[in-house]
Amino acid sequence: MPPLMERITDALSLVRNPRTGADVMAAEQVRDIATTVDGKVRFTLLLAPEDDATLVRDVRQAVEQLDGVSDVRVDVRDPAQREPTPARPAPAPNAMHHPTAPAPKAPGTGRALPVMEAASAPKAPPRVPDPVQYPNLGRIIAVSSGKGGVGKSTVAVNLAIALAKAGKRVGIMDADIYGPNLPLMLGVDAAPAVRDEKIIPLEAFGIKVISLGFLIEKEQPAIWRGPIVMKIITQFLRDVNWGQLDYFLVDMPPGTGDAQLSLVQATQVHGAVIVTTPQQVSVGDALRGVKMFERTAVPVLGVVENMSWFENPETGKPIAMFGSGGGERLAKECGLPLIGQIPLDPRIQEGGDTGRPIVDAEPDSKASKAIHLVAERVMQRLDERYP
Ligand SMILES: Nc1ncnc2c1ncn2[C@@H]1O[C@H](COP(=O)(O)OP(=O)(O)O)[C@@H](O)[C@H]1O
Ligand SMILES: [Mg+2]
Repeated sequence: MPPLMERITDALSLVRNPRTGADVMAAEQVRDIATTVDGKVRFTLLLAPEDDATLVRDVRQAVEQLDGVSDVRVDVRDPAQREPTPARPAPAPNAMHHPTAPAPKAPGTGRALPVMEAASAPKAPPRVPDPVQYPNLGRIIAVSSGKGGVGKSTVAVNLAIALAKAGKRVGIMDADIYGPNLPLMLGVDAAPAVRDEKIIPLEAFGIKVISLGFLIEKEQPAIWRGPIVMKIITQFLRDVNWGQLDYFLVDMPPGTGDAQLSLVQATQVHGAVIVTTPQQVSVGDALRGVKMFERTAVPVLGVVENMSWFENPETGKPIAMFGSGGGERLAKECGLPLIGQIPLDPRIQEGGDTGRPIVDAEPDSKASKAIHLVAERVMQRLDERYP
């Protein structure tokens, strides 16, 4: 068998940049290939702002499948960024480095950004773009929450599937850039194909889905800030071949950070759904979220209370587990309707972990019925607002 280094460069010369058509070796997009005796491979990929982020996955997979490769690490750099000094010399073919893991770099030094701008790119004055309409996406719905772990993604995914089961064309985008978990919840994880310079979304349970989780390195640090978040969101709205949709759901990160701002600056959001739990003692966080949407003229369609009660499987009697009334309190305080109460059901968690959401797996459960009701109310409220 030829030496590993040779096989790596051979494999990489089969990977083409969809934008230019050139292979990444010939175009010198790959630099500094280093290997260890135990099969760890590390190299730099120069990714220009115009390049597709899927290229990161492609080069990684090309090397990963080689015999004798135990681990692949791709450091993504913007070619416009100057070489770090002193530059690490590219090892000669056959060179074996010590099998020690490479020292972690400080955050923000150009490590593995999936998209475009390097974090340290020269600061241009922030330009706030005008919101762009995407009529092909239909009604855009942000699913939001004050804090993490309240079941925002669970509600978003099941709501999307419920809308699809009602005969609607539905897309969902994972804007939770700090913890994208739609791939796991929907049981899909693959590099999306790129055709005619558009990313083809993956499909599961009748909905189209795109997640940063499909594109990035798993152990990537969450160092994205304003402009890059904006870029990711715009890319997902504009450069994904969604086709014509009726509803487009956005799974937001918790709180009111860059992603919220970016989304409402990038496009017109037709409505927001706020997810909360009964035990939320203070409705403060969620309240801030509501206020933020209101300030940006996004109508809040309603509050969904998740994990509202636990249904005793023996008696069928509901047990309030976490105190009660959080959803109602929030709704009342904000003058919003409570559009759903979803019980705590272990099958929801199971479905989330195994990639089979409850609306599909247990369509007759109370939880599924509650989610279908939320879907109906969301559709109804949007129809009222946008006749
Ligand atoms: N109604 C529910 N019953 C049981 N488990 C739930 C319910 N809603 C969410 N979960 C579980 O709680 C965890 C957090 O939910 P998730 O949707 O990831 O929250 P968030 O997106 O708000 O961080 C997951 O493990 C999920 O499966
Ligand atoms: Mg989530």
